[in-house]
Amino acid sequence: MKIIKLKKIDSTHKLAIRMIENNSAFECGILADIQTNGVGRCGRKWTSADGNLYSSIIRKLPKNEDICKISLATACAVHKTVKNLLDPTKKEFLYLHWPNDIYYKNKKLSGILLAVIENWIVISVGLNIHSVSMPTAVSLDEIIGVLDVSADRLFRSVLNNLDDEMNLLQTDSFSDIRKYWIRNIVGVNSEVTVRNGEDSLSGTVRGIDEIGRLILECDGEKLYISSGDMFVNEKKIVVNYDKKK
Ligand code: BTN
Repeated sequence: MKIIKLKKIDSTHKLAIRMIENNSAFECGILADIQTNGVGRCGRKWTSADGNLYSSIIRKLPKNEDICKISLATACAVHKTVKNLLDPTKKEFLYLHWPNDIYYKNKKLSGILLAVIENWIVISVGLNIHSVSMPTAVSLDEIIGVLDVSADRLFRSVLNNLDDEMNLLQTDSFSDIRKYWIRNIVGVNSEVTVRNGEDSLSGTVRGIDEIGRLILECDGEKLYISSGDMFVNEKKIVVNYDKKK
């Protein structure tokens, strides 16, 4: 897949959308060193500190494919890329955080944003390599020590892994992706709050269903949630922490 490399852009995600809207889109990856106006999920700003991965992928939207499943498949692709860089003692702290974030311990390492326009899908990935913009985020440098891997190499690995995950979806094997999620998801059996705009719902995470929705148990009843932001309630977080520094 061709990769368009840019020194500076407002947002790789917005550029991908513009390409589709002005009929110049083709299947490609877009990688930028600097973003001046990055966007996150739910219209939030994605502050784009220097030296991180800012990327978008334009693909033809596969026929009859569920966006929710593509979103979960992308998170697996990014998770596998990062996991590959970590030594065994650290791999277990790398989590999938529903709906499509990657966390290391309780901090966000990577975020994913999807957009469907006409018969195209834009899959955008931001990954903190060298710096973070907020205390709730973590970078690969902090996890690994100063990293000797370029954004370009990370992006190529994400692209390759994403091809594999999309092939799984095409062969009707969301069950493999779901299994990977269930093995790596943060917050199972923890109390969480899921927010969607003004609405919020608290309950206990019981897993991911066969179409990628979060299974949340609220007052003994299972609810199936297809979109929102999940917050693990601080005191009851179920992750393994290092006891020593
Ligand atoms: C999230 O809110 O977690 C999703 C963040 C997605 C950020 C990436 S960085 C590259 C691409 N360009 C953007 O403006 N946003 C996405």
